[in-house]
Amino acid sequence: MTDTTTPRGFSDVFDTEVVGRWSAPGRVNLIGEHTDYNDGFVLPFAIDRRTTVTVGVRTDRLLRVSSSFEAGVHEISLDALDPASMSGWSSYVFGIAWALHVAPTRAESPAFSAAGGDLSGVDLSTATGLDLFVESDVPVGAGLSSSAALECSVALAFAELWSIDVNRSTLAAVGQLAENEAVGAPTGIMDQSASLLGRADSGVFLDCRSLDADVVELGFAAAGLEVLVVDTKVEHAHATGGYVDRRASCERGAAALGVSSLRDLDADDLARAEQMLDDETFRRVRHVVTENQRVLDTVRTLRTDGARAIGHLLDASHVSMRDDFEISVPELDLAVATAQASGALGARMTGGGFGGSAIALVPTEARAAVEQAVVAAFAEAGFAAPTVFTVNADEGARRDA
Ligand code: GLA
Repeated sequence: MTDTTTPRGFSDVFDTEVVGRWSAPGRVNLIGEHTDYNDGFVLPFAIDRRTTVTVGVRTDRLLRVSSSFEAGVHEISLDALDPASMSGWSSYVFGIAWALHVAPTRAESPAFSAAGGDLSGVDLSTATGLDLFVESDVPVGAGLSSSAALECSVALAFAELWSIDVNRSTLAAVGQLAENEAVGAPTGIMDQSASLLGRADSGVFLDCRSLDADVVELGFAAAGLEVLVVDTKVEHAHATGGYVDRRASCERGAAALGVSSLRDLDADDLARAEQMLDDETFRRVRHVVTENQRVLDTVRTLRTDGARAIGHLLDASHVSMRDDFEISVPELDLAVATAQASGALGARMTGGGFGGSAIALVPTEARAAVEQAVVAAFAEAGFAAPTVFTVNADEGARRDA
C-alpha cells in the first residue's frame, strides 16, 4: 500500500530553491574490525549504495530536514545547537552542524590533530539556515554504515555551503564527533573515513592513529571475483550493549599492560598479556592484536599476490571475532560457514557485530550457488530470510549537482 503521507521529493516539502545535491556512500569493511578505536589499522571500501542530500538555502538560521523514508520535517536553530535536544535519525544531521560548531574547541583532540586541518576559521555564527532532503539506498541497520553515509553527505554540503575549508580527514573527525556525542555511540573513525576517502575499485588502508590513508587497489572484478553481502536482518545498535562493553575491555587491557592503546602491542606481547589478564580480557586483546596484523597481511597480499589470495585472512578474522571478541551471532556464523562451504574464497562478518551483515569473496561463477546455499541454510535453521546482494568499491562522498 502506498503511504500518501510520505513526501517524495525536496519540492514536496520545501519552498526554497535547490542549490545543490551531495552524496556519500555506505561502506563494507574488508578487514580490520574493532581496531579503529584501538588506534589500529582498517581496510574498508566505499560501496555503490549512497545517501543523497538535496539542499536549499534559507534566509533564516533554521536547519530543516526531511526524507523520502519518513513523513515530517525536523528542525533546529543554528543558534541552539545542543546534542541534548537531538534525537532520532535527524541527530546525525544536526549533530554534524553541532560538531562543526564545537570543532575549533576540540582542535587538540587526537582525531583533529592527526587530521591536520586548520579549524581556526570555522565559524557558524553567520551561517545561513538550510533545507535538506535525504534519500538513500544504503540499508539501515545492516552494518553498512548508513549513518556515516548520512553524516558525510551532510558534512560535505555544510562545508561547501558555509565556506568551511577543511580536508576530508577533518570532516571524518567531525562525523565521528557527531556520532560519539550527538548520537551517543562511542564508535571509531573508520566508517566516516571510508565514506569520504573511498575510490572506485579500491580499499582505504587507514592508520587510525596517524590518519594516514593509502588507496589500495582491490582488483576484484579483474580477478573474476565479487563481494557478496549477506544482510542477516538481525538488528544491532552501537550506542548500547556489546559494542560499548568491547571498547571498555580494550581500554582495560591496554591500561593493565601499560600502553596507551592496543595498537602498541604485537604478537610478541601476547604471552605476557595472557599471564597478566583475565581470560576474557586477554581474548579481547588477542583479537585486536591479531586483527591489526591481518590487515597488514591483507594489504601486502593484495599488492603481491592479488585478490584471490586473501580468503584465508577473511576466514581467520571471522574466527577471531567469533571466538575471541565474541561479537558474532548464529546468523552471521551460518552465513559465513555456508558461503565458505559453497564456493566462497573467504568470508567474515563485517562491521560492529551483534547482527548486521557478513561478506563473502566469491568467484563470479559461484555467486548463484553461494547465494542459494545461504538462503536455503537460513530457511533450514528457521532464521528470517536474509537479503543477499553484490557490492562494488565505489567513489567516496561528492557533489553530484
Ligand atoms: C562500527 C563503528 C566503527 C568500527 C566498527 C568495528 O562500524 O562505527 O567505528 O569500530 O564498528 O570495526
